Amino acid sequence: MSAVGEAIRNHHQELIHTLTEHVASVVEGRAEADPQVLASFLVDELLPHAIGEERHLYPAVEPLVKAHGQATATMSVDHEFIEGYIRQIQETAQALQGAGDDRSKLEDRLRRLALQLEAVLRVHLEKEERVYLPLFERHLSEDEQQRVLDGMHSAYEE
Ligand SMILES: [Fe+2]
Ligand SMILES: [Fe+2]
Repeated sequence: MSAVGEAIRNHHQELIHTLTEHVASVVEGRAEADPQVLASFLVDELLPHAIGEERHLYPAVEPLVKAHGQATATMSVDHEFIEGYIRQIQETAQALQGAGDDRSKLEDRLRRLALQLEAVLRVHLEKEERVYLPLFERHLSEDEQQRVLDGMHSAYEE
């Protein structure tokens, strides 16, 4: 790991840690929860991070992905997370069936997981539709498109 790579990873850790703390305060309705502090963190820390990546990191990475990487790898990471949420929601739904006193805790967990999955899925679908499908439609014949669709449908029969 390079020193710069490590700095970026560490900054990511800080961002997600701080965001998770703020979100927990807001979701749990803690007395110290301050929407203004959350909003300031987002505007002052998270937004410049995204802008900086957009301007400097992505242009540096784009040719590297073309030469050495795989453009769909990030989407496969999304699918890993989606599968993880599905598994956790399934477990929570199962636990709720026989739940007693711990019911409200499980319901909170289910709400949280459902909202997280919804957010991830929304951005995931948008990426497929804005980036992949236009290429797919423009550059593959109708027959090739149909073969892909048939292949996708076979996953429902597994
Ligand atoms: Fe980032
Ligand atoms: Fe997908």
